[in-house]
Amino acid sequence: MQPNPPLSILPVDSDRLLAIAQKWGTPTYVYVESLIRQRCQKLKSLFPDLPVSWLYAVKANDNPHIIRIISGEGFGFDTVSYEEVLLCLKLGTDPKDIFYTENNMTDAEMHGAAKAGVILNVGSLGRLRSFCEAYPGSECSIRVKPDISDGHHAKVDTGNQDSKFGIRLDLIPEATRIAADFGVRIRGIHAHIGSGIQEPENILAEIEVLLKSSAGLQDLAFINFGGGIPIPYRHDEAPFDLDRFADLASGRLKAFIATTEKPVTFFFEPGRWVVGPAGILLTQVNTVKDQGRKVFLGTDTGFNHLLRPALYDAYHEVVNISEHTGKTSRTYHIAGNICESGDMLGLDRALPESSPGDYLAICDTGAYGMTMASQYNRRALPAEVLITSKGYHKTIRKRKTPEETVKDLFKETGLTAALKSETP
Ligand code: LLP
Repeated sequence: MQPNPPLSILPVDSDRLLAIAQKWGTPTYVYVESLIRQRCQKLKSLFPDLPVSWLYAVKANDNPHIIRIISGEGFGFDTVSYEEVLLCLKLGTDPKDIFYTENNMTDAEMHGAAKAGVILNVGSLGRLRSFCEAYPGSECSIRVKPDISDGHHAKVDTGNQDSKFGIRLDLIPEATRIAADFGVRIRGIHAHIGSGIQEPENILAEIEVLLKSSAGLQDLAFINFGGGIPIPYRHDEAPFDLDRFADLASGRLKAFIATTEKPVTFFFEPGRWVVGPAGILLTQVNTVKDQGRKVFLGTDTGFNHLLRPALYDAYHEVVNISEHTGKTSRTYHIAGNICESGDMLGLDRALPESSPGDYLAICDTGAYGMTMASQYNRRALPAEVLITSKGYHKTIRKRKTPEETVKDLFKETGLTAALKSETP
């Protein structure tokens, strides 16, 4: 077994990560700006002769500094909550570049979105009806459910027959009737079949379904094929062949354009592919424990900071950046510090013999790492550091001290008085 995944899988030099861990402490998420920019540019180069626009799925990583970088690369935004809409607006994004895919939205959220002037993508007939009643003569988009199943885990498969998302294909005529009754123009059609697509053929099939289903939409201005482009999480896993995918999709999109008179824009809305590989979670080993059959490396982070392994059995490479040469290889379970036995960040990992004080880099955690983090066990969230394109290290989120964490809890819950005097 290899005594550490190859250091080349790190997005930056391990010494640089070590320096950040020592200066900022741990747990800390580190992001590499130049890599995020390169990845945005790669996506933008895929369809040179087609009207394709890119939206970044904000849910993958919503640190405002990261959003600004991606906005600077010419991306609009895919948002899925009114809060994400407000975040993008606050960063100065033109509402026309904000696509809001609702999912069980409230009336208040609907009115907020309408007032803001963002593109509202409606996912149910009930919501479509209330939107049309409230805003006759306006416009929106519809999300449909193409009954194509994909995603890296059942929990992120959104296009299957039993999914809660989107309007059934057979109900599209009903959707157009509702809209027509109120003079609402359906400007776009959208689907997202899953996150971390396993079979490229499934996205191609989805494209086909959307192109066909758009035929009944008189006011069609765009088709949004959603996100889901996967990244390799294992160092020996082949990356998704983007160029081949773009080649195959281009042929179909060009044929569509040739046969339609409507000036149509195509959207894709990836999150993970843009930021996933550009992020690392740094953590420090504080305990090495031999439990007989398994040896555990105990760290200062856990599933409260990186939920993916616990929630989806997701695999993230772990590299010991303190000790990477000339040591015996050992097999470890990498454990978090949360009071649950499911709090494992990696199982049976071959690492160089590791000791308390060593720093570990948990790879490919730029997407759905910090955005899914919580303060479970009342622990503070990690710090976030950006390695800028110029090579500086910049704090983009401070880590709270334990004292600040508890103080804020009292502030937020309104219990500021001394507890002792109040106990019955
Ligand atoms: N568009 C819509 C409507 C979505 O629901 C999503 C992700 C995306 C785009 C972006 O998908 P991506 O390109 O990042 O795969 N927490 C899970 C992922 C859940 C994604 C939910 N929707 C994970 O950690 O794998």
